[in-house]
Amino acid sequence: MRAQLARDFERFGDGLPRDFAGHIREAYHIDLAARYLGFPLPHPIGKGSGQLSLNQEQLENDRAAGLAFVVLKTVIAEDAAGVRAMDAWAIHETRMKVETVRSASGLEGWTVTWKGRGWDRSFEDYLGLVRAAGEMTRSGGMVAVPSVKYHLPRVDESFREGEYRHTTERLARAWDGEVLALEKDFSPTLAGDSLSDERARITRWLEEVPALIRRSAGGATVRVALKLMNARHGDSFQLDMVEAAAGADGLVCFNRLWSAERGVAYGGYDLSDRNLRALAAVKSARIHRPPLSGTGNVASGRMILEYAKLGCESVQLHTFFQLPLSEYPATVGSRTQRALHTLLFHPESGLVAGMLDLEQAGRIHRRDGELHFLDVPHS
Ligand SMILES: Cc1cc2nc3c(=O)[nH]c(=O)nc-3n(C[C@H](O)[C@H](O)[C@H](O)COP(=O)(O)O)c2cc1C
Repeated sequence: MRAQLARDFERFGDGLPRDFAGHIREAYHIDLAARYLGFPLPHPIGKGSGQLSLNQEQLENDRAAGLAFVVLKTVIAEDAAGVRAMDAWAIHETRMKVETVRSASGLEGWTVTWKGRGWDRSFEDYLGLVRAAGEMTRSGGMVAVPSVKYHLPRVDESFREGEYRHTTERLARAWDGEVLALEKDFSPTLAGDSLSDERARITRWLEEVPALIRRSAGGATVRVALKLMNARHGDSFQLDMVEAAAGADGLVCFNRLWSAERGVAYGGYDLSDRNLRALAAVKSARIHRPPLSGTGNVASGRMILEYAKLGCESVQLHTFFQLPLSEYPATVGSRTQRALHTLLFHPESGLVAGMLDLEQAGRIHRRDGELHFLDVPHS
């Protein structure tokens, strides 16, 4: 199998087969089936919300590449009159800088430096994208769900329910009509905002927002994933946040770190180190929690497995889909395809190699002759 993996890595560098999950099942007897927000997926690799899911062309390319799911760029909620409490987040910024970053532990990774925030076009435009995402999800092509930043009040304020209602109802109508799956973003930029300083505020948001979104959907059924931020309150507060978010249908753990000096969000190994530390604390606390999707510095199959061992049933990448082309071993295909090629098939750091290693170490076992990705969280 190792020899076949080396051969597959080599030949798929010239083009990845569309049904690579089927190939992996047949050739290696590894079932990569995964889950995100209640959706069964052929494998665990998806795209996190951001600048890479702004239009239908990007969605179509990712579907063609075989990505398992995509979260659309975060839209800023508005009420029926078009008023947005979080208006400051809808700023326009196109320049992104992809650069290396050294972590406190001395490891070199990648980060994207960017000063923009949420969706900066009209809500109507966003609904057009949501319609396409809904169709794609229903047709079985690829799961694609919207992401929203709704009003978040101070402790002595109430939620602007009109904003929740108008936005959620319209998204539900556009995406499917009867069902809506979405992410609620507690953005990395929010971590630099004075509003987010108080733990009591954050806890209240996490406790109340899932139910508020569900009852704001005009009768449609909503599945809500909360994308949790890295707050400025130390590791133990990350665990408190997961506990407070018990009412959500899924959690995305955890969005980028905030650099107060530079006024930007960042990633790299500081991000994955912190996320994995916090998820390890969540695992050992054995609390009741929603299903997890991991995000942060996923740049290899091995890192996917680090998140999976701590309970994540899928992962969401952004930075790794933005590297200079010379960083990918594949020479053909879109960035998404080249990224998938190395994430899955790299003979040392890929997901297949990592699954075989886990088997060798006795941490996962074949059932009916197959290894299963979804056994990794229980390993
Ligand atoms: C340029 C850029 C824009 C992003 N925009 C959003 C966003 O609008 N909403 C959101 O929830 N996350 C956003 N993210 C966070 C990513 O979805 C992802 O969770 C995070 O970058 C960690 O993954 P990574 O290390 O693979 O980049 C953005 C990230 C980047 C780099």
